[in-house]
Amino acid sequence: PRSVWLSRHGESEYNLEGRIGGDSLLSHRGEEYARKLPELVRQSVGSDRPLTVWTSTLKRTIATARHLPKHYNQLQWKALDELDAGVCDGLTYQEIADQYPEDFQARDEDKYNYRYRGGESYRDVVIRLEPIIMELERSENILIISHQAVIRCIYAYFMQKPQEESPWVPVPLHTLIKLTPRAYDTLVEKYDAKI
Ligand code: F6P
Repeated sequence: PRSVWLSRHGESEYNLEGRIGGDSLLSHRGEEYARKLPELVRQSVGSDRPLTVWTSTLKRTIATARHLPKHYNQLQWKALDELDAGVCDGLTYQEIADQYPEDFQARDEDKYNYRYRGGESYRDVVIRLEPIIMELERSENILIISHQAVIRCIYAYFMQKPQEESPWVPVPLHTLIKLTPRAYDTLVEKYDAKI
């Protein structure tokens, strides 16, 4: 593709509380990002270019896409849902450290391979993203609105970073990222909504 646009969903109620996973709605600031996103997209994509928006199936990404122009096609992919934290879904990192100290330590030691009990690892996410990457590779003008771990993996793929480094890729909230693959590298442009 010529360019791919990536964004995390706007800040969610769980983000505010420091809870992972879940299916919460956007916080006040998250809503503000959803309202500003059309303008960021207009600046970066242009208003005459067609765009297809891919979200996850979770409320916070769908809500983030809600104010985008109605003529953009929108698609929801289960494969774009956040890394499944299994029994730790809905907990804070402190609660995980208290309730599952061995797991907390195991994840710290090997974050890429650590699989939450009843959930997923980054390695699992990379595998389930394969069809998304394949579809992306043969598409133009796609904006993906997804979640921290998923955006990290897609970003690492386009930046040709080893997937093992995905768990540490910084992906700030309220920022639209434009990636443009070139002959020897990938151009990164970031649009901060300043919220
Ligand atoms: O806290 C937001 C979040 O998207 C969680 O839902 C998810 O478990 C986490 O980030 C992934 O980040 P990390 O792998 O650094 O815990």
